[in-house]
Amino acid sequence: MLSWDGLDVNDHEAAGTGGPDRPHETTPKDGLDVAGNTAAQEARMIVPGDSPAVIRAKKALNSLEFNQRLDELEGASGRVAVDEKRMINCRADLNQLVPLKYDWAWQKYLDGCANHWMPQEVNMTADIMLWKNPQGLSDDERRIVMRSLGFFATADSLVANNLALAVYRLITNPECRQYILRQAFEEAIHTHAYQYCIESLGMDEGEIFNMYREVPTVAKKAAWGLRYTRAISDPRFKTGSVSADKELLRNLIAYYCVLEGIFFYCGFTQILSMGRRNKMNGVAEQFQYILRDESMHLNFGIDVINQIKIENPHLWDHALMEEATQMILQGTQLEIEYARDTMPHGVLGMNAAMMEDYLKFIANRRLCQIGLKEEYPNVENPFPWMSEIMDLKKEKNFFETRVIEYQTGGALSWD
Ligand SMILES: [Fe+2]
Ligand SMILES: [Fe+2]
Repeated sequence: MLSWDGLDVNDHEAAGTGGPDRPHETTPKDGLDVAGNTAAQEARMIVPGDSPAVIRAKKALNSLEFNQRLDELEGASGRVAVDEKRMINCRADLNQLVPLKYDWAWQKYLDGCANHWMPQEVNMTADIMLWKNPQGLSDDERRIVMRSLGFFATADSLVANNLALAVYRLITNPECRQYILRQAFEEAIHTHAYQYCIESLGMDEGEIFNMYREVPTVAKKAAWGLRYTRAISDPRFKTGSVSADKELLRNLIAYYCVLEGIFFYCGFTQILSMGRRNKMNGVAEQFQYILRDESMHLNFGIDVINQIKIENPHLWDHALMEEATQMILQGTQLEIEYARDTMPHGVLGMNAAMMEDYLKFIANRRLCQIGLKEEYPNVENPFPWMSEIMDLKKEKNFFETRVIEYQTGGALSWD
């Protein structure tokens, strides 16, 4: 790790007068380098008018051993060859993005940037009027809006924290880290979007942001996810042993396959169904953008999990396969319970039984995506329109969107 601690020590020691000691510099390679290096060193000479603080700063740099500091960089053994790169436990320099090894990760980073959007760009006027009109929505519809915002307002923070405080450090590949940074920013935008909806509609913020503690079906989902963060977010946690590497895989399965891959789907379907019925169009539009981001997060996570399995086949043994299956089935069960809690009656052309079928259909897909066998036979997708939204195909006259304006890299097409 690069540390500037020594610099601070030397800074104090260097306080005083006189010219600089001979600086420790890298060796120039050719004539142009020699001229550049000499000019750079001359810039550090103490000149009349330098304040005592400036003199201290120049002298402190003279005692910094740059070559030694570079050697302290994570895995810095020189220029990186592509076949040295690994998803986990990589010994090559993690500060060199290229040469790229995992093109899929870099492509997802580019696609994520091309689909940039911000919550304030969505018009919420009609939603505010509808929400404040006592006859605007039924009690069942209101419950869905409240529960969805309650769950998602904190769920995306759980995902962001898991990425930034645990996963980022342990995935030892720069192109994947590049996407993880993009994803982390998107999670911040999602939390911003929920906050923006809650504020626009004048909801009780304390009630909504505390649902993950106070509403049992929401709390159980949050608690289930947090269980898989505990070990790997400890700063002393290190990969490199079979048990630690398996713990990281468990976390990736919990967050990408279950939290982002199952726990989001009941709420997304309910709110998007509301938009299809021309209700709460602003909230629905926000959710549509979020779903588009989330389906990319999910696909990235699946690719990461499968690549780790390819590079470390010893980790993916019968016990872990069994455990991963159990995790996905537990997650599906919790989401089915959430569906029943949020839809005590039929609403918006759907009911809890249809949602249960949909969640089992999704769970079968998640199992297959990481190489496990389906566990729910003969289930069909009762909401095929959800796949169309995720595939970025826009239905005619669906939402009034300005997606083309968000497109900064030309990658997204709604046609
Ligand atoms: Fe998110
Ligand atoms: Fe996400």
